Amino acid sequence: MPFPQQRPRRLRRTPALRGLIREVDLSPRHLIAPLFVKEGIAEPLPIPSMPGHAQHTLESLRKEAREIASKGVLAFVLFGVPGRKDAEGSEAWNPAGIAQKGLQALREELGDEAVLVADLCLDEYTDHGHCGVVGPDGAVDNDRTVELYERIAVVQSHAGADLVAPSGMMDGQVAAIRRALDDAGRTSTGILAYAAKFASSFYGPFRYAAECAPKFGDRAGYQMDPANAGEALREIRTDIEEGADLVMVKPALPYLDVIRLAKQETGFPLAAYNVSGEYAMVKAAAGNGWIDGPRATLEVLTSIRRAGADLILTYHAKEAADWLQ
Ligand code: PBG
Repeated sequence: MPFPQQRPRRLRRTPALRGLIREVDLSPRHLIAPLFVKEGIAEPLPIPSMPGHAQHTLESLRKEAREIASKGVLAFVLFGVPGRKDAEGSEAWNPAGIAQKGLQALREELGDEAVLVADLCLDEYTDHGHCGVVGPDGAVDNDRTVELYERIAVVQSHAGADLVAPSGMMDGQVAAIRRALDDAGRTSTGILAYAAKFASSFYGPFRYAAECAPKFGDRAGYQMDPANAGEALREIRTDIEEGADLVMVKPALPYLDVIRLAKQETGFPLAAYNVSGEYAMVKAAAGNGWIDGPRATLEVLTSIRRAGADLILTYHAKEAADWLQ
């Protein structure tokens, strides 16, 4: 058809016209910045596979968070790297443990201006690197692990977390944590559930950063098979029924269909985790001059919003906030 009536290019002619019909927007308020705090170091240690990120000291953690907040990103998810690990990961529920100290430091630094999310898991704290207690058969014991998660949730709540974010994919973890928080009188602390977390190769750089690669086996016995979208939706529905306040899909880019399905089918507040390997890919390609880093980053983040995510946990948060100004 040489002269179609519809000429979509009319509305693409100028930035103003394009802005007028843009369907989704991306702004710093949609982003949650992950941060790592490590016990027993005097200086921040850069993470080679995640340029721009470091394992922080308590002091550098405050400084970094303050800088990120000044750009309009007001939510943080904190990961602790303890100085001492054991079979049960007991530093995770030590009220004086590094993650708790980090939460307190961030709260002191930023006050109620910031939303603090505490990653709730055991893999950074166990000497074997699994997300829970390993039974005699070598598998992670679901129910013993969930009991430990309950303790961690209460401690993190007292340390200042607005939201605890269970990421271990144990069955029944959300219901148990909700009950434990309520029993402790912590009814205002919410749960951001890593509801559909896939057994992904894209966690590689994170496992270095959080020092949590499993010493034996893998996480396929508790994290999800990348082939399963229907099961992801069931996991998400279960977490909502168990009392999650927000649900998450993780990783983001290889699972945009799952994000779309979750939003469409549940309408629930939805986060997506643009994980370490997704970040490393963009950084590596941009560093080699193979793609335009800022453009690729904003395109990735926009695609995650377009798929249906309300919020994005992303290591790009600080730089993206700059590029969005
Ligand atoms: C588990 C946890 C992991 C990530 C967040 N929480 C690692 C894993 O499941 O092995 C990965 C995040 C990322 O890759 O950015 N505590």
